Amino acid sequence: MKSSGLQFSELDLNPNPSALVLRLLNQVKHTAESFADAYNLDFKNLESFLNDNESTIQPILDSLIAHPGIDIRVLFKPKVAEKIHMITNRESKVVAMSAEDSMLSARIFKRGSSESTKTPFYKYFDTAVMPSSPFRPELIEQLKFFDGESELESCYFNNGHFEDQLTLYLGNVNLHWIELNSGKKIFKASKFDTSYKLPFVPHTFTSRTHSVGRILAVTYLGPIGSRSFQDLIQKNSLDDLCKILENYQATDESNKPVVLTTSTKPNLINLSEEFQATLLLGGVQGQPSSTITLLQFPRETETALSPTANHQWFFNCSNVSIKMSWDFSAFMFTPNSSIAVSPQTLVTVSNTSDKTAEIVSFAARSGEGDPILQAKRILKAAGPSAISRMRNETSQWFN
Ligand SMILES: [Fe+2]
Repeated sequence: MKSSGLQFSELDLNPNPSALVLRLLNQVKHTAESFADAYNLDFKNLESFLNDNESTIQPILDSLIAHPGIDIRVLFKPKVAEKIHMITNRESKVVAMSAEDSMLSARIFKRGSSESTKTPFYKYFDTAVMPSSPFRPELIEQLKFFDGESELESCYFNNGHFEDQLTLYLGNVNLHWIELNSGKKIFKASKFDTSYKLPFVPHTFTSRTHSVGRILAVTYLGPIGSRSFQDLIQKNSLDDLCKILENYQATDESNKPVVLTTSTKPNLINLSEEFQATLLLGGVQGQPSSTITLLQFPRETETALSPTANHQWFFNCSNVSIKMSWDFSAFMFTPNSSIAVSPQTLVTVSNTSDKTAEIVSFAARSGEGDPILQAKRILKAAGPSAISRMRNETSQWFN
């Protein structure tokens, strides 16, 4: 494990560091075991840290700092956080990850009703991620076949997670989720269908064919991640908080579903004459910037993508390689590669091949949306336990 070159003591950390680390690991979809494995850490030491027992923190903190997509600043007191940020300074306007690097991060998670019956269920791949961006995207393969005709056993569902989730389906995959008042639901998705799901709603994905399914699961810190809302939930007891939410009157009380789904339909928006942009998903309550768009770049064209106020994340889901350029840098955007782009960045796409390239683009804006209205919807969909978890995320996203 490469050292950060900084020496840490427990006094540098914010209160309840084990819960914060668990939340950070959840965000990048690592269990303590898979993270220890990836960084050659002493698993017992990490486990001990997460259980608030005696541990050596230096190798754990060095590994967290080294991991792409972990915003380490939440873990440290402001002055130390600033120093780490200055020294590591990993921020650039664009972060790219090649398909090869993504493959190297592959990890399999098992699920089942007991240790002895657990079988491989998911394969996770890291993708391009920028720590300051709200996105924590993953490419996930579904290794479990399910025809979608009966009820999926509860042991395959996760506990839901803190982040909002935008999902793009790259094949015939089922989305399963559980609503507090009405039980298990299913959405049978096909290629280029999409969904948005509220935080803390238990869910899972299965393949509807006998081959491996694939999705892009783009989780992001939505309204409830805002500092002002975190302050509000820390200041109130769980009962008081539930009362505040139940009594909250918002101007937009429209009853959006717990899971918003779309099936592919031609919904062309004219962003440019040079390429086609199809809005696959929009209409997330209170978050007009949260969208999934399919971009099609015809052969032998060069296109400048207008800078936007949003964070964007791109994935190449075609068999065609294109060149993405920004400032004085360029990246060969090969199939299954990904790119995270910060707001107000001009990116140029050049397709010199003789085929159309298909790129999918996810967008969201940090801090967009009404956190109290969002929490009210979560309370209705997932119950008071979800509100309790917002205060102090101490559980892994699956068992
Ligand atoms: Fe998820």
